[in-house]
Amino acid sequence: MKAIEVNNLSFKYPSTTANVYSLQSIDFQAEKGKIIAILGENGAGKTTLMKHFNGILEPTTGNVLIDGVEITRKNLKTVRRKVGMVFQNPDDQLFSPTVAQDVAFGPMNLGLPPDEVKKRVASALNSVGMAEHGEKPPHELSTGEKKRVCFAGVLAMKPEILVLDEPTANLDPKGASDIIAIISRLNQTKNITVVIATHNVNIVPELADEIYVMHKGKILKKGTPREIFQSEKLLKRANLDIPEISKLMLLLKREGYKIDFPLSIDEALKELKNLLDDGHA
Ligand SMILES: Nc1ncnc2c1ncn2[C@@H]1O[C@H](COP(=O)(O)OP(=O)(O)OP(=O)(O)O)[C@@H](O)[C@H]1O
Ligand SMILES: [Mg+2]
Repeated sequence: MKAIEVNNLSFKYPSTTANVYSLQSIDFQAEKGKIIAILGENGAGKTTLMKHFNGILEPTTGNVLIDGVEITRKNLKTVRRKVGMVFQNPDDQLFSPTVAQDVAFGPMNLGLPPDEVKKRVASALNSVGMAEHGEKPPHELSTGEKKRVCFAGVLAMKPEILVLDEPTANLDPKGASDIIAIISRLNQTKNITVVIATHNVNIVPELADEIYVMHKGKILKKGTPREIFQSEKLLKRANLDIPEISKLMLLLKREGYKIDFPLSIDEALKELKNLLDDGHA
């Protein structure tokens, strides 16, 4: 079952000159319960594509299906209830006088009873470490704090599909790992489908089931983290990096050490232990 399906989507911003398309012939699928990463350099089209997943942008040609149903103007409300989106720029998302009111906005719009709204706000703010800041005006927060509040606002809606545009940008290491832990937990315990655009390739291997690589408004390739990060030519063309730990191990491999291509610290540790054990033998 596909949570998101995009068929032959092309998109041109109305303001841009004729025939300059920001997205061209995009086919994309997110299977229910999977975590999909979208990688691509600045301007590749990640945000533009993601804004199609809950109908903020309408395809110029092609279509987008959520749980098998095409997004139309008529079912936008249902779609937005299912698909929670955290924007790249928190200032696009925060507009209420206080943090708590901002997080409450979505659940209130769902028509939930005040007690339930209160519960959801407290729990969402708590899970992003912002429980203390409920009464603050959002514009007085730091960028990283704003980002957490945006995430809380989407969590409070209890979406089935989470679309996250650069969720760890501007977060400190603890903030970033907290967000990653929440994403993993929601995915594992509630089977929530996640699509995440990120430049942080270090978090991708352990998080994502599948990667889409975008370049100049097109999908260059989709594959597992192992397939994508082993395609040197593809990464070069898309101006993408590989995880730091893989880089280190590749350097060792080039020096003649017998190492498989590791994508995570755990895999690298196993490889290094093998090497050291062999050395001792
Ligand atoms: N509102 C807009 N009007 C016109 N063109 C736009 C608009 N927003 C983005 N674009 C153009 O669409 C293309 C894709 O931009 P997009 O923001 O989707 O890239 P991105 O992959 O998210 O980049 P980044 O990593 O910088 O966030 C770029 O060429 C950009 O200049
Ligand atoms: Mg973007």
